[in-house]
Amino acid sequence: MKPSIYITRKLPDVCIADLKENFNVKMWESEEIAVPQEVLLAEIESANALLTVVSDPVTDELLSAGKHLKVVANMAVGYDNIDVEAATRRGIYVCNTPDVLTETTADLTFALLLATARRVVEAAEFTKAGQWQSWSPFLLAGHDVHHKTIGICGMGKIGEAVARRAKGFGMEILYHNRSRKPEAEQEFGAKYSSFDDLIEQSDFVVAMAPLTKETRHMFDAEVFEKMKSSAIFINTSRGAVADEAALYEALSKNEIAGAGLDVFEEEPINEDYPLLKLSNVTALPHIGSSSIETRMAMIHICVDNINRILTGESPRTLVNTSLLENKK
Ligand code: DGY
Repeated sequence: MKPSIYITRKLPDVCIADLKENFNVKMWESEEIAVPQEVLLAEIESANALLTVVSDPVTDELLSAGKHLKVVANMAVGYDNIDVEAATRRGIYVCNTPDVLTETTADLTFALLLATARRVVEAAEFTKAGQWQSWSPFLLAGHDVHHKTIGICGMGKIGEAVARRAKGFGMEILYHNRSRKPEAEQEFGAKYSSFDDLIEQSDFVVAMAPLTKETRHMFDAEVFEKMKSSAIFINTSRGAVADEAALYEALSKNEIAGAGLDVFEEEPINEDYPLLKLSNVTALPHIGSSSIETRMAMIHICVDNINRILTGESPRTLVNTSLLENKK
């Protein structure tokens, strides 16, 4: 019998045509609505491979039902939706999609930073709503970006790509990371900084760290209080690196000037979400890596990893690398 693959979101036929030649492929038939957990629980029983997206919780319970499961290929660089420890314990490979989305996510991060600072979304809505009466000296005046200080928390590949863009804007670049990045210091003049110094000195604080036990709520009430009152907080990593209730308070009390958010603690959010009521918040629906080229490349990596694992080859982008080391 051919091995079975379950795909949790509708993907273009062209992306899975090759898989269909060699495997039984089943796919959740909606692009927008997430597969219910009970459907996934039923499907995983016979699946040898799962292609997931960031909003699918791949829990210990789910994995325990995957008696034949060999691989979970997550269409994201982040994998906080997956219990990697539980997968590793069961010998299930977890793969992600690093590198291909680096520049695209950095573009969106910078776009969000610019849009929040210069009130681009608000200004566009104002114009479309026919509210423009005349040129006026401080009409929708925002904050400058060029030559300001950007603080990047989490200097991974995407952080470095943001730093490269910031350099082009003549910005002073501070960064905080678990380890120093001498190449970034040399290439962009980025200065390594303690978390507290970065928070206190930056005009733009950009959250780029992956979500882990250590980074959950690393931006809390105390941190927002330490930021400049003119600071703008940008988050394109994971919502839960910030305590959103504390962020709401900080924005409402003008402890900080604004926030540009592509990610939220619970996704999706709807129009009643408190942060959306604030005019100094620019909110996007988790589209950091969403360009057609990049999303196609991400699918391609997932498909390739599944193909490789089901045919006995090593995957290209493995998260739980200890599984390969144990094989040696
Ligand atoms: C990622 O790759 O982790 C993104 O958040 C998904 O677009």
